[in-house]
Amino acid sequence: MSSIVKNILFFTLVNFVISIEDTCFYDGCRCVKNIDDSYDVMCVNPSDQIFPKRIKTNITEIINTFLIKQFKFTEIPNGTFDGLKIRNLIIGENNLEKITTSTFRGIKFLSLIKIVEKNFETIEPGSLDPISEHLNELGIWQINYKSDRIDAFFDEISRLKKLRTLSLMGYGLENFKSEWTRALGNISFFSLGSNDLKSIDSNLFKSFTKLQSIDLSNNFLTNLTSVFEALEPVKNTLREIKLSSNFLTNLKDFSMFSNLQILDLSNNKIDKLPKTILNGLKQLNTLYLSSNLISSISDEALHGLNELSALILDNNHLNTVPSIRQLNNLRVLDLSNQNGKLVEIKNYSFDRENSTSSLYINLDLNEIKNFGPKAFCSKNSNISEIRKLDLGYNTTSVMDKCLLKQLKSKLTSKVEFNVVIKAQNLDKSYCDCKLKNFVKSIQVDLVGPCGDLTSVCKDEQKEVDKCDKKEFECGV
Ligand SMILES: *[C@@H]1O[C@H](CO)[C@@H](O)[C@H](O)[C@H]1NC(C)=O
Ligand SMILES: *[C@@H]1O[C@H](CO)[C@@H](O)[C@H](O)[C@H]1NC(C)=O
Ligand SMILES: *[C@@H]1O[C@H](CO)[C@@H](O)[C@H](O)[C@H]1NC(C)=O
Ligand SMILES: *[C@@H]1O[C@H](CO)[C@@H](O)[C@H](O)[C@H]1NC(C)=O
Ligand SMILES: *[C@@H]1O[C@H](CO)[C@@H](O)[C@H](O)[C@H]1NC(C)=O
Ligand SMILES: *[C@@H]1O[C@H](CO)[C@@H](O)[C@H](O)[C@H]1NC(C)=O
Ligand SMILES: *[C@@H]1O[C@H](CO)[C@@H](O)[C@H](O)[C@H]1NC(C)=O
Ligand SMILES: *[C@@H]1O[C@H](CO)[C@@H](O)[C@H](O)[C@H]1NC(C)=O
Repeated sequence: MSSIVKNILFFTLVNFVISIEDTCFYDGCRCVKNIDDSYDVMCVNPSDQIFPKRIKTNITEIINTFLIKQFKFTEIPNGTFDGLKIRNLIIGENNLEKITTSTFRGIKFLSLIKIVEKNFETIEPGSLDPISEHLNELGIWQINYKSDRIDAFFDEISRLKKLRTLSLMGYGLENFKSEWTRALGNISFFSLGSNDLKSIDSNLFKSFTKLQSIDLSNNFLTNLTSVFEALEPVKNTLREIKLSSNFLTNLKDFSMFSNLQILDLSNNKIDKLPKTILNGLKQLNTLYLSSNLISSISDEALHGLNELSALILDNNHLNTVPSIRQLNNLRVLDLSNQNGKLVEIKNYSFDRENSTSSLYINLDLNEIKNFGPKAFCSKNSNISEIRKLDLGYNTTSVMDKCLLKQLKSKLTSKVEFNVVIKAQNLDKSYCDCKLKNFVKSIQVDLVGPCGDLTSVCKDEQKEVDKCDKKEFECGV
């Protein structure tokens, strides 16, 4: 497992801390008191112990996060959680093999469990009963799907009446059986990310009635045929589909998912976005297409996406800005790093018909050589709708800065010169007073490395006069 996944797993559940306690409920662990009087208990094997030793018998405080990591136990000792109220329990990198009927005996409540254990394969019948009325989220990494106990394992999971979020990251799982999900009909968030799936069983979601989010990222899917077949029963409830980091080349028509809000197709091998596949996605607000091979997007492809707020296209091969004319709610357009292909920005490239939002445009990591003299203008307005613009050093060092006048607006516009060369090699001579004063005089803020320039600057008028070119005026 990548260390990023591990770190997310172990650290995101920590609350706002108010104090670190000298003594802890458990020997050798660290207790941290949170703002809501709950505690985080962090036990990372201090001295080759088998299991953390409880030193306060009567713990009445709520434990927000209980982390048990790198101990030597294969089973959790009887009575470990007796009387405890735990929100999040994270067990990782120990030698846990099974959960028994004694594991959760006496526990008061438990909302979430994440288990990262390579030998974990058994849940004894009835073991989850003490938490079946509370457990809302279960995440299991590295389970042994080849084990002959695995069917019983899923039978036990299906007894969790309040379970809404289930993540099963298998590493090695090539076929997730539909029998395993038969009694999981109330799950809303389901992840089979980071497995070895090449296709999906067409009956997998048959019993699901409330599925809002499906995560199939980081698998070996090459096409969407089986995925779409399987998702047919939940097409009206799904709000989020994650398919990043697969091997998809051709897409299919997504319009049957009429309530879809988030679609993640980043990091695949997609080279085109067929004209109509996103039509009808009236709720879509975020579309991730980063790190694909897309070289053009036809105007029609983005039609009707009235709610689209973020269009993320970094690391593709676009040579022109896709038409965003109809994306009245767009707030983020990421076109950074088009692998050298994006060298021209035409007149009115970011114009929209009836826009209701201001835009952040990221053009960093490109070398744009030509800007139409009206590049950042809107056709119907002489007030810029651009709230922030990221340009790389290679672009800003050759562009006519007078273009930046087009960013002047009532909004607090910011021009961000995101200089990518390492800070110590930064060509400070470029971030000079001339630039700073110029930008200031046209009432655009400069942020990023050049914005940090602290020296006192004079003579700002000169640069402004030089830029008094009608050529770059937007006007209506
Ligand atoms: C545990 O602590 C609570 C509050 O601190 C107290 O009311 C209760 O009597 C204690 N129970 C035992 C068994 O010591
Ligand atoms: C744990 O509890 C089970 C069932 O009550 C019992 O069979 C077992 O011996 C106990 N283990 C220990 C170490 O006390
Ligand atoms: C789903 O929830 C409903 C209502 O809470 C319940 O009646 C039903 O048994 C649950 N279904 C499953 C498969 O757990
Ligand atoms: C889709 O992928 C599956 C699994 O890799 C493969 O068997 C099938 O032939 C593919 N279908 C198409 C149309 O490419
Ligand atoms: C913009 O507004 C006009 C006039 O109300 C309308 O005809 C047109 O369809 C709108 N365009 C978009 C993309 O919303
Ligand atoms: C861009 O605008 C300028 C000024 O209005 C005009 O001269 C030029 O022809 C336009 N370029 C294109 C490609 O439309
Ligand atoms: C900027 O241009 C230089 C010289 O052409 C090139 O080495 C560098 O990779 C470019 N950087 C970016 C971020 O495009
Ligand atoms: C913008 O356009 C309005 C008319 O729509 C005009 O009154 C105003 O002077 C223009 N502003 C600039 C800075 O050109």
